[in-house]
Amino acid sequence: MMHVTDSLTAKIIETVPEGSTFLELGSGKGTAKLVEHFNVYTVEHDPEYVGMVPGAHYIHAPLVPVKRNKRFSELVEWYDVDVLKRELPASYAAILVDGPPSSKRRPGFYLNYALFDPTAIVFIDDVGRASEINMLRFFTRDLKIPQVTLYDSHQRHMWSMFDPKDSIK
Ligand SMILES: C[S@@+](CC[C@H](N)C(=O)[O-])C[C@H]1O[C@@H](n2cnc3c(N)ncnc32)[C@H](O)[C@@H]1O
Repeated sequence: MMHVTDSLTAKIIETVPEGSTFLELGSGKGTAKLVEHFNVYTVEHDPEYVGMVPGAHYIHAPLVPVKRNKRFSELVEWYDVDVLKRELPASYAAILVDGPPSSKRRPGFYLNYALFDPTAIVFIDDVGRASEINMLRFFTRDLKIPQVTLYDSHQRHMWSMFDPKDSIK
């Protein structure tokens, strides 16, 4: 299982104010690094990983079937939105999208973006894949973000960052 690369972690630490509340989708080893700097809430579908990193607030949201979407026909299941509505913190400085596992599930974040704090900076891992590139295209169009920055770490592993507060009004 890939965890977030050092260049993404370094960028998060440099960009997000120390001690802020931070929301992660998809927990793993990388969660431990975030906990050193932030008040971390992490959404995890798999009970095996819930509670693995001490100090992180886990939100256990199982995967459930989603209504078929024409633009993202590859998406068949995503986190249970009822759990997210109930348990997500009200505000946070940033979101890291690194779950649920499998590229084809990631567009669920775009389709459910209304559930999340609209002021939070968004980091999306693994954007070199078709599903995520498609999702980013829709984000830039809908949010009128002037620039989504793509980063390519030494492993040719791309991730992206955008700040919805940069949106063109
Ligand atoms: C890409 S991983 C999340 C990684 C996390 N953000 C990190 O940087 O460590 C996505 C999913 O893989 C699963 N996972 C986490 N740790 C794992 C491990 N050591 N081996 C296999 N799967 C794991 C979890 O269900 C998690 O939601």
